Amino acid sequence: MKQASSFPSADGLWAGLRLAPDAAPGAALDADAEAAIAVTEGMVRWVGARSALPAGFEGLPPHDGGGALVTPGLVDCHTHLVYGGQRANEFALRLAGATYEEVAKAGGGIVSSVRATREADEDTLFAQAAPRLEQLLADGVCAIEIKSGYGLALEHERKQLRVARRLGEAHGVTVRTTFLGAHALPPEYAGRSGDYIDLVCNQMLPALAAEGLVDAVDVFCERIAFSLAETEQVFQAAKALGLPVKLHAEQLSDMGGAALAARYGALSCDHIEHLSAEGIEAMRRSGTVAVLLPGAYYTLRDTQLPPIEALRAAGVPMAVSTDHNPGTSPALSLLLMMNMACTLFRLTVPEALAGVTVHAARALGLQKTHGAIAEGMPANFVLWNVRDAAELAYWFGQRPVRTVVRQGRIAVGGQP
Ligand code: NIG
Ligand code: FE
Repeated sequence: MKQASSFPSADGLWAGLRLAPDAAPGAALDADAEAAIAVTEGMVRWVGARSALPAGFEGLPPHDGGGALVTPGLVDCHTHLVYGGQRANEFALRLAGATYEEVAKAGGGIVSSVRATREADEDTLFAQAAPRLEQLLADGVCAIEIKSGYGLALEHERKQLRVARRLGEAHGVTVRTTFLGAHALPPEYAGRSGDYIDLVCNQMLPALAAEGLVDAVDVFCERIAFSLAETEQVFQAAKALGLPVKLHAEQLSDMGGAALAARYGALSCDHIEHLSAEGIEAMRRSGTVAVLLPGAYYTLRDTQLPPIEALRAAGVPMAVSTDHNPGTSPALSLLLMMNMACTLFRLTVPEALAGVTVHAARALGLQKTHGAIAEGMPANFVLWNVRDAAELAYWFGQRPVRTVVRQGRIAVGGQP
C-alpha cells in the first residue's frame, strides 16, 4: 500500500472538466460548458465555468482534465469494514434454504464474526480491512463510516475503532467511527440483555468516547437484536455525551425504531425496508437521512422494498451505501450499489448520485466538508472516464475512475 503522505498535492487549476449535475451547488454554468476547479492548500477556492475564472487563479499549475466528468468524492456512509474472518459458509447455508434469522439463532450470524474479531489482534484486523478499504477507494470514495459491533466487549470494540482510525490516517481518507456496541447480544450475556445494555451505556460508550474513538452511536433495533426500550437507553447515553445517533431500523420488521431515532434527532435511519408512514413523517420533521442498503436487500433476497415513493414524496433525503459487512453485504463497490439502488429500488440516476454524495455526507454530519465541490471545502473530487453521469449507475463491475483527488492530494491517477 502506498502511504497517503506520498500522494502528490492536488494544488493547481483543474480545467478541461465537465461538471456532473448538482456537483457544485454554488456554481452557475451551462451543462456543456467547460468547468474548472481552483485548489490551493488542499482546499477548493473556486469552481465554475472556465471562461469565468477570476484572474487571480490563472497562474496556478495546470491539471488537464481531458474532458472528464467530475463529481464530488463519493461518501460510503454505512460500513462494518473492520472484522475478523468471513462468512462464506453462511452464504452456502442460505443457498441451502436457511434464512438470515435462522442462521443467527443457530449461533452463526453476527456472533460468529464476533468470535473471529475477538481472536484477531489490532494489526491482523488492520491487515484484513486495508485491502477492502482499498477496493472501496478505487471507486472514488473520499469519506467512509466504519462501525464497531463485532467486539461486543470494551477491549474488542476499542480494537475495531482504533483500527478504523488507523485506516483513515494510513490511506488519507476521512473516516467517521460509529460505536455499535448494541449490535448483538454477546454469548456470555445470553438471557441478560438488560445487563449488557447497562454495560454498553455505563462503561463501554463513556470509555471509548473519552478516548476520542466515537463520532456517532448506532444500535441494531430488531427482534433478533435489541428492543425499542433498549435502543432508547443507548440513545440517552449518547445524548448525555453529546454524541449524534443513527439506527439500523425496520430492516426485518417494523419496530417503530425510525420514529424513536427521529425524536433523538438521528443523523440517519438505515435499511428501513419496513418503515411505516409515521416513521417517514418523523424522519421528515427531524431532517433524518434515509440510508438505503441495496447490497443487504439483494444478499438476503429480501422482497420487502423500502418505501421509496413515499420517502420521495415526503422529501426525505435518501443516501445509498454498501453496508459492507461479512454477513449480509460483502460488497466492495459503491458504484455497484448505485446500480442496485436504481435497478432494485427504482431510484433515478440523480437520486443515486446524490445518495452517494451530498445526502451520504449529511448522514455522517459531514455536509460542510464532503459531498459537494464548493469554495471553502477540502478538495475531494473524482474525474471519470464517462460521457454521461448516468454511466456511473449504468455499468456494473467496471471502474471508470480516471483521477481521485482526496483530502487535497491526487490519490488515484494523475495527469494524462
Ligand atoms: O447492517 N443489520 C445488522 N447488521 C448488519 C449485518 C451484520 C452481520 O450479519 O454481520 C447489517 O446488515
Ligand atoms: Fe449495517
